[in-house]
Amino acid sequence: MSGIDELFAAAAQARRQAYAPYSRFAVGAAVRGESGRLYLGCNVENAAYPSGSCAEQNAIGAMIVAGERRIAEIAVLGDAPAPVTPCGACRQRIREFGDAATKIHAGAVSGARRSFTLDELLPEAFGPDALPGANT
Ligand code: THU
Repeated sequence: MSGIDELFAAAAQARRQAYAPYSRFAVGAAVRGESGRLYLGCNVENAAYPSGSCAEQNAIGAMIVAGERRIAEIAVLGDAPAPVTPCGACRQRIREFGDAATKIHAGAVSGARRSFTLDELLPEAFGPDALPGANT
């Protein structure tokens, strides 16, 4: 199994746990940290709609609570006609712990896939380097 296949298999596993009763759009995400370890997330919706969270957001949180700080690559999987790319807010979240070259793999349940760099999905990004005084 290739690294990308492994990442999508993990995202599919996470997607099965999605709590998406409102949109019925289940999403799974898998982050590979620099250590090689995988961290999973699914979307978790809420009756107060804006309080819901994205799969990528929760996968990144799992990485952080495990003590890792750098995203090597991330896969996102949903059941849509085209591969599911991260929303704008999640692109920014990936930027915090990645860089312009970080690979984002978008997938659909159909098997369609596309890979991007973060720079392709969030060009001219604002990131931690803009705040040199930050204690990251
Ligand atoms: N969603 C994600 O979890 N990640 C994405 O990349 C796209 C959208 C979720 C948010 C919401 O629970 C549902 O999909 C529909 O927008």
